[in-house]
Amino acid sequence: MKKLSLAIALLIAPSLAQAWPWSQDMANQVSVKPQESPDSAHPGMTPFPKRSLPVAGTTVIVKDADAARKMINPMLADEASVARGKRLYGIYCTPCHGKSGTGDGLVGEKLVMKPWNLTNSNEMHNWNPAEYPDGYIFGYVSLGGAVMPSYANDLTATERWHVVNYIRKVLQNNPAQQAAAQAN
Ligand code: HEC
Repeated sequence: MKKLSLAIALLIAPSLAQAWPWSQDMANQVSVKPQESPDSAHPGMTPFPKRSLPVAGTTVIVKDADAARKMINPMLADEASVARGKRLYGIYCTPCHGKSGTGDGLVGEKLVMKPWNLTNSNEMHNWNPAEYPDGYIFGYVSLGGAVMPSYANDLTATERWHVVNYIRKVLQNNPAQQAAAQAN
């Protein structure tokens, strides 16, 4: 019995270790990724031209949080964009950040570090776009955080901007809409 449990433990352990960070494993191959320098002597990423959108279907890599911060949101936050953002937020973000955006999702409750508050009731910082521009949120979704996984492989760049628009227009802006988002 001891031997069997040891064997099982050995079988499970490596897969657990390699599963972190989530949803990046399949992308981590030897192939040169979009925007990645093929020259190992000069590694690094090429930044996007301002107001550009990559072709659908490509994995968009952002160099770092500073580069993301400076990116200008190319998607107009119109009704269609906010509606798409709402749908994607519901699929990818609610498990942790909750429908309300305050961080009360069912998965989030189990995390040691609680998901941060995406609404205006955030106690750590305000969501003033001058200090926390759209690119900051886009960067967080693209790069992930200490606990939060990166969504660069799951969401196209366009989809990530839709999510940003939803967060801005609904979760952070309008109290009536915020209440509606919490209710449904
Ligand atoms: C597995 C749980 C989880 C999921 C799913 C998740 N997050 Fe997070 N998020 C976190 C945690 C935990 C933090 C706290 C910071 C960290 O992990 O480094 C965070 C932080 C953030 C921050 C920074 C907030 C601040 O106050 O500066 C943003 C923005 C964010 N998440 C957006 C999103 C969006 C948008 C999605 C969906 C595409 C998403 N997150 C999905 C767990 C999650």
